[in-house]
Amino acid sequence: MAFPIITPKEAAAMINNGDVLGLSGFTAAGSPKVVTEALAERAEKEHAEGRPFKVDLFTGASTNRWADGALAKVNAIGRRTPYQNTPDLRQRINSHDAHYFDLHLSELSQKFRYGFYGQLDWAIVEVAEVFDNGEVVLGIGAGNVPTYVKYAKHVILELNSKLPRDMYGLHDIYMPLDPPNRREIPIFKPSDRIGSPVVKIDPEKIVGIVHSDHYDGIKGFSELDDNTLQIGANVCNFLIGEIKAGRIPKTFLPLQSGVGNVANAVLYGLAASKDIPRFEMYTEVIQDAVIELMKMDRCKFGSTCALTVSDKAEREIMSNLDFFRDKIVIRPAEISNSPEVIRRLGVIAMNTALEADIFGCINSTHVLGTRMMNGIGGSGDFTRNGYISIFSCPSVTKGGMISNIVPMCSHIDHTEHSVDIIITDQGIADLRGLDAVQRAETIINNCAHPMYRPLLQEYLRLGKSGNIPHSLEASLAFHTAFKATGDMRNVDWAKYGF
Ligand code: COA
Repeated sequence: MAFPIITPKEAAAMINNGDVLGLSGFTAAGSPKVVTEALAERAEKEHAEGRPFKVDLFTGASTNRWADGALAKVNAIGRRTPYQNTPDLRQRINSHDAHYFDLHLSELSQKFRYGFYGQLDWAIVEVAEVFDNGEVVLGIGAGNVPTYVKYAKHVILELNSKLPRDMYGLHDIYMPLDPPNRREIPIFKPSDRIGSPVVKIDPEKIVGIVHSDHYDGIKGFSELDDNTLQIGANVCNFLIGEIKAGRIPKTFLPLQSGVGNVANAVLYGLAASKDIPRFEMYTEVIQDAVIELMKMDRCKFGSTCALTVSDKAEREIMSNLDFFRDKIVIRPAEISNSPEVIRRLGVIAMNTALEADIFGCINSTHVLGTRMMNGIGGSGDFTRNGYISIFSCPSVTKGGMISNIVPMCSHIDHTEHSVDIIITDQGIADLRGLDAVQRAETIINNCAHPMYRPLLQEYLRLGKSGNIPHSLEASLAFHTAFKATGDMRNVDWAKYGF
């Protein structure tokens, strides 16, 4: 092999305090494992000896316990973008030990190339295969690797023996030109291939190859309960109704499905419904449910940025590549999430909300308006550009102490302009063509839990004037009641002079 084999410790020893790192992968899938873990050990030692040691991390999306997890645990992350979901990093972000900025995933590569975020010292990239000319086959998440390896001063490769060499051909690597030379991204159906199966790296930049031998350790989903199953069934009923009404073509349109338990339940709902035709996906993550749907011949094809699957599902895919090869393509995030392509293909966007307000705005990121949960991820890329944009969530959380339908979201990621449909276990609110008050009545009657409906109706009656009749004093009363008493049902409108 043309490149030196080095140990994780040797790789970590080359990285300095303050360096900026671009990591491979996307939602844990395909992120580095052994170099970042060794780097965390080094940071811990440096801290113990009284020296500062932090690195900036640019990734595709969230990473894993060996990258974000290990580095956040020892407080070794400085700047961080564009998405995360490990408990330790979440805590560092919420205490401002790590400086996180939340970003639409489609935008990071190009903004990096535009020079908005400075230089990149290192790219650390998990690969399935390395060729002597510097070409590599990536792992199961493409993320922003093409941009990171082009702009990094040095590249370290993690060659993961869990990834079979015949993964060759699963990826489609394409980097658009930047303005003013940008042309169309020529994808006209989810299965179109427009780039290369490999990422080309300048061999001069590759300082070494580190061996690794780990699956991605992505945890499976919670058992589907009655509530999540009901949400899945409601999403299916909505889509079937749209096909019957001729608003979605009978041949159907590509689907995008977000992250999390609810998204997974929605996909199982699609599998169960005979009225939903076999479908394709143009999405950023393929979760376990999609693999099941491919085996059942319900999902024909999935274009994705990552296979965000459990270790069990990853083993299954890798040992049946002949079956999956013509059903999956893995693309860089700026292509999987490209607003241009999403709008051209007519992707049906299905994402999950933490909370929705009665006027149709969505909070996907901040619990009680302050604590970062994960990040906006690709939800904005798809929601803003989808053919129809659907948000789903349970009507209540934490045994009913939290209503996921509130008078006003405590933080807003998606405004009413981008949200067509809200779906909970209670039902479907179709917001298309409705004014603010009509939206509120529809959301309260169709989506809010019955125990919260009177409180929300009262709020709507009490807001006196304006296009969106909020009461600025009382708009966050559900949240303040929860903070004060641990239960949103204790809201007391009298406190606000009503
Ligand atoms: N207030 C406070 N806590 C809330 C809440 C609310 N309104 N809604 C949910 N929660 C809590 C739940 O109780 C649960 O807590 P637990 O872990 O202690 O049980 C946790 O948040 C997750 O809720 P759950 O219903 O299991 O959600 P999920 O797994 O379906 O994920 C999001 C929901 C919104 C966190 C997730 O979809 C997300 O991060 N979205 C943003 C990124 C995105 O949409 N990407 C999509 C492009 S592919």
